[in-house]
Amino acid sequence: MSANVAVRPFLLKPQWMNGLSERLLVSHYVNNYGGALRRLNAIRARLAALDWERTPVFEINGLKWEELIAGGSVILHEIYFDSLGGHGDDPPTGLIEPPTGLTQALERDFGSISAWTAEFTAMAKALAGGSGWAILAWSERLGRLVNHWAADHAHNLPAAIPILAIDMYEHAYHLDFGAKAAAYVDQVMANLNWARIGARYRMAIGDEAGEDALFLPFGAPVDEEARISVEELSVALKHDDERRPILLDLCQPRDLPRRTDMLAGASMHAPAALSQWVEELPRDRPIAVYCICGFQVSGTAVTELRQRGYDARALAGGITAWHAIGGATVPLDTSTYEQAT
Ligand SMILES: [Fe+2]
Repeated sequence: MSANVAVRPFLLKPQWMNGLSERLLVSHYVNNYGGALRRLNAIRARLAALDWERTPVFEINGLKWEELIAGGSVILHEIYFDSLGGHGDDPPTGLIEPPTGLTQALERDFGSISAWTAEFTAMAKALAGGSGWAILAWSERLGRLVNHWAADHAHNLPAAIPILAIDMYEHAYHLDFGAKAAAYVDQVMANLNWARIGARYRMAIGDEAGEDALFLPFGAPVDEEARISVEELSVALKHDDERRPILLDLCQPRDLPRRTDMLAGASMHAPAALSQWVEELPRDRPIAVYCICGFQVSGTAVTELRQRGYDARALAGGITAWHAIGGATVPLDTSTYEQAT
């Protein structure tokens, strides 16, 4: 049995988007994407334990159908979230154009960028009141980019590679837009991260070159050794006291109102007060540092801690990814937090 499918951290900054709320995006990521991921892993565990000779066909059919739906949902949600967001701390402007190679491909296959946009957004808006995905995909067989809708998570053009997907299930917009699906589509278009969509296109046509940095959360340590996944942390926290990581919860003062919970046993600190709390840390234990989404707050601190010789790692995806895998938390305790002086 292969390992569980791992959660993918947010690349977008949910609090710095253009007209899409943090509440909507985080709820969507944790509950719908995370829910599909947890379901997929549970189905895979069930399948791994099946006696294929003796299991009734209706049970095999049901599980294989659910596996396909959950797997499709996970992958399409990851393409959707990856396709959104600005650069660094800058919110999306809605003014960025596709990179040159993708622009040329869209012009070749649709006539112009505006013709592609008209078709793609009309197709997405036509799903209003229903459910599904609006997808831009590269088809090697057809030799072109195609816009296609997907009636459910398991519906695609065979062998075509999606490079952009818009979630048209009501959970993707109802919190912000009510039933106004068309307004949601327009706002998603104003949040597209064309650099990453262009990179997906280059990878789809087999022309990838140095795309990895585009898919690393902003501010996360580049060195893989300096990061720990939520799945790895979940296992490490089950170790005995000596090997169990020390948990540090770092939060900027301005972000405290966004927080309600924390990992059990973590101590919360202000990143700017590092010199005050660093000496309390043991040098003989691994240290896991997390922030809200695993961007520069934990990334910068981990870089500094490692320079000082501590075995520190930043939690990829932060507490948000922890929530998405269904990780347990306790109510927020700010008693160790340094107040601004
Ligand atoms: Fe969704």
